[in-house]
Amino acid sequence: MNSRNRLIIILTTIAGIFLAGGGWLLSERQQEGGPLYSSSSGTPQVGGPFEMVRHDGVTVTDADYRGRNMLIFFGFTFCPDVCPTELSKIAEVMDILGDDAQKVVPIFVSVDPGRDTPEAMADYVSAFHDDMVGLTGSQEQVNSIAKAFKVYHKKVITDPDNPQDYGMDHSSVIYLMGPDGKFVAPILPNSIPDQMAALIKQYI
Ligand code: NI
Repeated sequence: MNSRNRLIIILTTIAGIFLAGGGWLLSERQQEGGPLYSSSSGTPQVGGPFEMVRHDGVTVTDADYRGRNMLIFFGFTFCPDVCPTELSKIAEVMDILGDDAQKVVPIFVSVDPGRDTPEAMADYVSAFHDDMVGLTGSQEQVNSIAKAFKVYHKKVITDPDNPQDYGMDHSSVIYLMGPDGKFVAPILPNSIPDQMAALIKQYI
């Protein structure tokens, strides 16, 4: 997608989270050492139960990740730029976290289940990090988890002669979820891995 569309999606995502959370996103950039974000005005309704197919073909639910923090990002394996960039950064964050990485599961959720089979997801996530989990599923499962996480996704056909070569516009916020499965903090695009790791360490 072009940068204008990407900006619109980012702003739409932030607006959605803002509306869901009642102002917490803009509420504070806290004193030194404090968290970048706080949920003092109520935890936003981001996330929730899901059932998806993992990259090894096994059906999993959100409950399978209780006890660890999910670092969750939505995209698709054919994504030309944003997804590979963000997933590379997540992989770097996992390495920066060191021993704390055991507390974190990086999860890449497909918004393109038509092409992202479990096998395709397995090939893709393994190229970024050994710990990375790929989740896909039926269109209904994908729609459901995307709705729960307030993730915008839309198929875009740029060449009508080759409709199979479509792209997907999608939100590119990374969510940090807690060991209880509840939303903790967003990690906004353009964060660098050191910042991301520092933010995560405040919560895990
Ligand atoms: Ni992408």
